[in-house]
Amino acid sequence: MKVTVFGIGYVGLVQAAVLAEVGHDVVCIDVDQAKVDNLKKGNIPIYEPGLTPLVTSNFEAGRLSFTTDAKAGVEHGDLIFIAVGTPPDEDGSADLKYVLTVAQTVAEYMQSHKIIINKSTVPVGTADKVKARVTETLNSASKSVTFDVVSNPEFLKEGAAVSDCMRPDRIILGVESDTAEDKLRELYSPFNRNHDKVITMDIRSAELTKYAANCMLATKISFMNEIANLAELFGADIEHVRHGIGSDPRIGYQFIYPGCGYGGSCFPKDVQALVRSANKVGYTARVLESVEAVNYQQKEKLFEYIMRHFNNDVKGKTVALWGLSFKPNTDDMREASSRVLMEKLWDAGATVQAYDPEAMEETQRIYGDRDDLRLMGTKESALNQADFLVICTEWQVFRAPDFELIKSKLSNPLIFDGRNLFEPKRMADYGLQYYAIGRGLSVKGNQ
Ligand code: UDX
Repeated sequence: MKVTVFGIGYVGLVQAAVLAEVGHDVVCIDVDQAKVDNLKKGNIPIYEPGLTPLVTSNFEAGRLSFTTDAKAGVEHGDLIFIAVGTPPDEDGSADLKYVLTVAQTVAEYMQSHKIIINKSTVPVGTADKVKARVTETLNSASKSVTFDVVSNPEFLKEGAAVSDCMRPDRIILGVESDTAEDKLRELYSPFNRNHDKVITMDIRSAELTKYAANCMLATKISFMNEIANLAELFGADIEHVRHGIGSDPRIGYQFIYPGCGYGGSCFPKDVQALVRSANKVGYTARVLESVEAVNYQQKEKLFEYIMRHFNNDVKGKTVALWGLSFKPNTDDMREASSRVLMEKLWDAGATVQAYDPEAMEETQRIYGDRDDLRLMGTKESALNQADFLVICTEWQVFRAPDFELIKSKLSNPLIFDGRNLFEPKRMADYGLQYYAIGRGLSVKGNQ
């Protein structure tokens, strides 16, 4: 099938590559000429496991192309995806200007029936706005061309985006016409094996489904972080509590890992956007407001531990930091907890010596050159002449480090772990002081 994807960001690029892989003929449009040129040369703008070979092989096979030519893009696709960004505006609402600009562009160039598919995470009611913008633009050019609008939210996770897209657990279609549903079912049929994963519904429900899913997951995390904070005050261990409650299938083990807060491009933005959307229809989303507030505080947790330990004085200290990305297997630093920590440490006069397997360039891009940030080539060199170690991201390579080496390199044998990677008892046996989230401080004789 002939498909056009507007917006070569995370969602657009992964979706386009996966559709091309199963044989569809996909054209990607972006306004960023440099990005388009780079993609044509095989330079992928994001780090995502499995994406580079997928993009390059489909590009070489001619099933996937990149251009800034919107007119050609609109002419090409019978199905047109909108996968542009919806960044938060000043009050945290999703900003729809890019989505509506694409809608207008499609209307300006379309000469035959098009199915316009909203893939971006957009507030409930956006499809109606897209429809209105297309209709207006067609009317003002006196064109009588028909079109459908579909809401088809994505549920991919960074770091596992290609496999999530290849093997979706559900395909949500918010549709208003049988023709559109038929076409979308045909488009996704290569991914719809074993059992029917397509769930159809009205457009507004599909739009809300996406927010509800992300907000539910964010709620689980903030809830666990709150219980972790309580566990610490009560002298309990959150890891036992997690194990204990996760065994109830109604609760489940997924997404109940306490830590130094959730980050990324979705949870923070989507929780905020749904809170704002609720306000606009006269409703106060109290649970979600708290989810956001708890997460905000949780991102300061490691800094709090550090300041408590050092009696509010870390001036002149060198802090080894492992993990900069908001989660493993990505170089994405958006809303990462590491940023809150680093910025607070800098304000307090400390120097950060950081290592991350993928996010070093991104860190350099964000913060530039500064005397109080040293980006180190290995996790071991990040420990050189450091006073203590902090862990912000649970990359696999951090899970079984050489603890003797850590101890010998740090001037204080001290670890602050924002992802609860180690057993407190083992840390104490190594002679390391160990702070984890919701587990208190572990030192020998304190278990
Ligand atoms: C999320 C959703 O999972 C995905 O379905 C949606 O399409 C986009 O948003 P993503 O942002 O890529 O995906 O990452 P995810 O793996 O969900 O993690 C988000 C954040 O939550 C990370 O900072 C992670 O460290 C944190 N997290 C996750 C926890 O703190 N505890 C957990 O138990 C799980």
